[in-house]
Amino acid sequence: MLEYVERKGTCSSKWDGLNETFGADGLLPLWVADMDFRVDSHITGAITDYIKTGIYGYYVIPDSYYDSFIEWEKNEHGLSVEREWIRYSPGVVCGFNFALQVLTSPGDAVIVTTPVYYPFLHAVTNNDRRLVCSELVNREGRYYIDFEDFENRIISEDVKAFIFCSPHNPVSRVWSADEISHILEICRKHGVAVISDEIHHDLVFNGSVHTPTMSLAAKNDRLIMFTSASKTFNIAGLRNSFVVIRNPEVRAEWDRFMTGLRLNMGNPMGYIVSEAAFRYGKEWLTEIREVICGNYEYIKEQFALHLPHVVMTPLEATYLAWADFSYYFSPEEIQPFMQDKCRLAFDYGSWFGGDKSGSFIRINLATRRENITEMVNRIITEAGCRL
Ligand SMILES: Cc1ncc(COP(=O)(O)O)c(C=O)c1O
Repeated sequence: MLEYVERKGTCSSKWDGLNETFGADGLLPLWVADMDFRVDSHITGAITDYIKTGIYGYYVIPDSYYDSFIEWEKNEHGLSVEREWIRYSPGVVCGFNFALQVLTSPGDAVIVTTPVYYPFLHAVTNNDRRLVCSELVNREGRYYIDFEDFENRIISEDVKAFIFCSPHNPVSRVWSADEISHILEICRKHGVAVISDEIHHDLVFNGSVHTPTMSLAAKNDRLIMFTSASKTFNIAGLRNSFVVIRNPEVRAEWDRFMTGLRLNMGNPMGYIVSEAAFRYGKEWLTEIREVICGNYEYIKEQFALHLPHVVMTPLEATYLAWADFSYYFSPEEIQPFMQDKCRLAFDYGSWFGGDKSGSFIRINLATRRENITEMVNRIITEAGCRL
């Protein structure tokens, strides 16, 4: 049984870090992708055992950690990963920042498909690469890649790398095997390296099936896959993620770069919780998936009744709902309405790049129903007063 935890006052960035991002406190937080539920008891058990040893010296990563990931990928996603392909990164975001440095040079063009998880955009510009955006096509709330535009931009901008979000945050899209194959084919044809962020791969819904990019790639494709147990099992604070590189040349380039940083080992607790999550977290994951789906359906139902022109993107993956309020609010109006009138904190569409999502919000669904009901009521009531 999932246990909701009151997180205010626990140094939670979601609850206690509002001021830094929104310039205000006391908002009901439905923004950053962090859950409000206690982790599976096997995870707390494993970390407690470690803490009780009273020794926190340098650590040797056990084989069982790698095995738990290899088994998870095989059983959950049908992906065969070999031990020697796996590397460590203290997070997926810093991982794809490293990958840009490994796979591209300053000034190189890097493509993303917008709207997309905004650290992709920042990674490109912060590393002095050139940002090229191919806008996803929104058809009644569901999003599609415009392959022609994607390829044309690769050619005209001489793109060297693509940062792929699969499943896609914020548009909740699980890309089909055909779509992924098409992307790989275009990238291969034009010598574009692929950085595939698959952190949301376990959180898929409504019959969708995640296809790992690597399962469709050729052996010599310049591909780096990133994933983690962190989003799936709510352990992101422990900074442990997996880098999978099958191409030996790319692996050697990665290793050379990481050796320069001396970043070959993380905090022991990150390894311990990731392994416990993969080995024992399945039941907890089933429960959290039900909560996420239930919250999504509730919001969709309520908006359909009271604000029928809100377009909710279908929930295929992630615990983040993507809602289009453009019928009701201009891009300039949405944040003042949600923040000042409703006292709510969301990730706003304009953060995610492209120019078509200014009136969207991204809603974090991984909280208790009372918070979701409160959020919906505030929006409906305030919107009712205003419209
Ligand atoms: C697509 C995507 N990648 C990466 C992350 C964060 O990864 P990390 O905390 O491991 O840096 C998130 C968090 O929401 C995400 O949505």
